[in-house]
Amino acid sequence: MTVVGPFGLSVRDQALEADVQAGLAAVEEGLLEATKSDVPFITESAQHLVRAGGKRFRPLLVMLAAQFGDPYSPGVVPSAVVVELTHLATLYHDDVMDEADVRRGVASANARWGNSVAVLTGDFLFARASHILADLGPEAVRIQAEAFERLVTGQILETAGPRDGRDPIDHYLDVLAGKTGSLVAVACRFGAMMSGAEESTVSILTQYGERLGTAFQLADDVLDIASDSHESGKTPGTDLREGIPTLPVLRLRARAESATGTPEDRALCELLAGDLTDDARHAEALAGLRAHPALEEARRDTVRYAEEARAMLAPLPSCLAKSALEGLCDAVVHRAG
Ligand code: IPE
Ligand code: IPE
Ligand code: MG
Ligand code: MG
Repeated sequence: MTVVGPFGLSVRDQALEADVQAGLAAVEEGLLEATKSDVPFITESAQHLVRAGGKRFRPLLVMLAAQFGDPYSPGVVPSAVVVELTHLATLYHDDVMDEADVRRGVASANARWGNSVAVLTGDFLFARASHILADLGPEAVRIQAEAFERLVTGQILETAGPRDGRDPIDHYLDVLAGKTGSLVAVACRFGAMMSGAEESTVSILTQYGERLGTAFQLADDVLDIASDSHESGKTPGTDLREGIPTLPVLRLRARAESATGTPEDRALCELLAGDLTDDARHAEALAGLRAHPALEEARRDTVRYAEEARAMLAPLPSCLAKSALEGLCDAVVHRAG
């Protein structure tokens, strides 16, 4: 049994493992190449988070999806570079929005160089991703543009909150599908499409990616509360501090408002609704949520989403890549960082 990728994903076949590892190594080269500028400072800021690591979850998905066609097709590696560059760019921007100081275990770009450099470096990465995309053809450009639109729409809707009368949990799940599911779906779609897989396979893998990506973001939101920064490479409780209600908070609110809600539930809700930029209140809120059954409820929802992603693979023929993609459904929800 060998281990591939960031999640300790088990792959029981040496040929598949070698393919995936070779693909991911080529992606690393591509990322370093794509982030070089004639201006040394831009190279430094653009490579800052590339070199800091990261799970490379999306390139891994491209490589596994490419197993359904010819994994050595020339578009596979560049498309994985495009997806990771796009993801990376959104991290530069997201850390400005979230005022986050730590990313991938190092100082965020905004903490290190200020918001302007972080935003412009994100734009630089988008520009480089577009450059590579142009060589992959107009269909790839269109797919990427549509996903990118959904991603930023998700980020904006998260900031805006649900419109009057909308169920907050439905709103939240739409936000997740937009801001994270869309790009994870593109990773699967590009891998399958660039390898020349059948149209029906491309479609199944795209839907799987969207669902898996949503589960991945649900797990990220649980980890924001449950994990420590050593595991996640980020500062825990960032969503709380920013006042972004994620599923554990939404589940708590629903409980507090129900007939069975306790005074303790309501007290925690009140604490969460207040100013959490205060360190003591923030620590109390984080500890309260960590100990609250609403966190477990959110974990169960996450597992359910991942199980739905797994079920979507059912029509595909049995093969090692399919088993690996099924394994990822467990791995994303049981990861520590
Ligand atoms: C972080 O993504 C942002 C989310 C969509 C949850 P990852 O958890 O994939 O971040 P890296 O690439 O491993 O740093
Ligand atoms: C960000 O979500 C998702 C995108 C960057 C599109 P989060 O704000 O939860 O991501 P982290 O936790 O900072 O990685
Ligand atoms: Mg963030
Ligand atoms: Mg997060």
